[in-house]
Amino acid sequence: MDQALPAKLTSVAELDELLSRPSAGLVSFMKQLDGDIMVVGAGGKVGPTLTRLVQRAITAAKVQKKVVAVDVAPLDALAAEGIETHRCDMMDLDAVGKLPKTKNIIYLIGRKFGSTGAESLTWAVNCTVAYHAARAFQGCRIAGFSTGCVYPVMHLNSGGATEETTPEPVGEYAQSCLGRERMWDYYADQGKLDMVHIRLNYAVECRYGVLYDIGSKVWAGEPVDVTTGYANVIWQGDACNQIVQALGLASHPASILNVTGPETFSVRLVAEQFARLMGKKAEFSGQENGYGYLNNAAKANGLYGNPTVPLARIVDYTAQWIMAGGANLGKPTHFETQNGKY
Ligand SMILES: NC(=O)c1ccc[n+]([C@@H]2O[C@H](COP(=O)([O-])OP(=O)(O)OC[C@H]3O[C@@H](n4cnc5c(N)ncnc54)[C@H](O)[C@@H]3O)[C@@H](O)[C@H]2O)c1
Repeated sequence: MDQALPAKLTSVAELDELLSRPSAGLVSFMKQLDGDIMVVGAGGKVGPTLTRLVQRAITAAKVQKKVVAVDVAPLDALAAEGIETHRCDMMDLDAVGKLPKTKNIIYLIGRKFGSTGAESLTWAVNCTVAYHAARAFQGCRIAGFSTGCVYPVMHLNSGGATEETTPEPVGEYAQSCLGRERMWDYYADQGKLDMVHIRLNYAVECRYGVLYDIGSKVWAGEPVDVTTGYANVIWQGDACNQIVQALGLASHPASILNVTGPETFSVRLVAEQFARLMGKKAEFSGQENGYGYLNNAAKANGLYGNPTVPLARIVDYTAQWIMAGGANLGKPTHFETQNGKY
């Protein structure tokens, strides 16, 4: 049985523990997965706790397997925990060829923020690096992070984009993310690797994400823009638990899995809940236009069950974290954006 949730998260250590807690489903998946696992892009917002999650699932499953972490950024904290790390700029094809070859790969490399004005760099990170990886990792099983932004913005009445919705990415960041998928597809379509594209919308935890953005505005007395009035989010630990298990869906041609929470929530109502918890008054700007990046998570929830950390609990954790002056990553999501400019 899965462990009970903590009542509060009062330190980065407690937060990281919950973000990297393997579910019973992941532990049993790990028992039957063949081969080692490499986390590529392990140094960003999601990678460190995802790498720890894999290590904890391996330990809990009592299987002989290792997790390897790769990034161009330093991975000192993971190395200090005994994880094999490789510093590699994957823009360099020769360097990619020297990475260890593992059967399973979780691929997180991407670039979003600052894309406006530096479009060529965004395309290079999202597409060229994916091409290098796909070329080098033939014969592997890959779960590749993509984004729900490859779909068009969806009306609330639609129920959110499903895996069958035709991609229509708006703006160069989202277009380059579809390009990232296509680099992998080029090899998967030829049967040279097995792939699942993870269309994630949006991972949240106490230090960043859509809920952090709403909560910190309420706390600061700033207006919350409700033009994009609805969203779905998923606790990052639940997202990672689902994504590692999604290695089991990798196929050629590639398969697709939306990963997000089951609720489509009102930004206005969530801001009012933050205000109640914080003893503040929520201020708003704009008016809901009924559209947002809304993804339908029915497939993932049917496979793995609903997330273990429900929306109301994440709002509680995030409110307490912000009020206590907890660390933040200084990376607003710009979830309000509907024109694709980041
Ligand atoms: N976090 C979210 O809520 C969210 C939502 C939707 C989609 N995604 C997707 O999930 C992926 C992972 O998310 P994240 O928030 O951890 O991203 P991130 O930007 O924080 O991390 C990406 C990592 O890729 C590494 N990287 C970039 N260029 C590299 C290179 N040339 N060689 C080696 N490493 C390189 C970076 O150093 C960084 O550690 C992203 O690609 C993003 O498109 C994330």
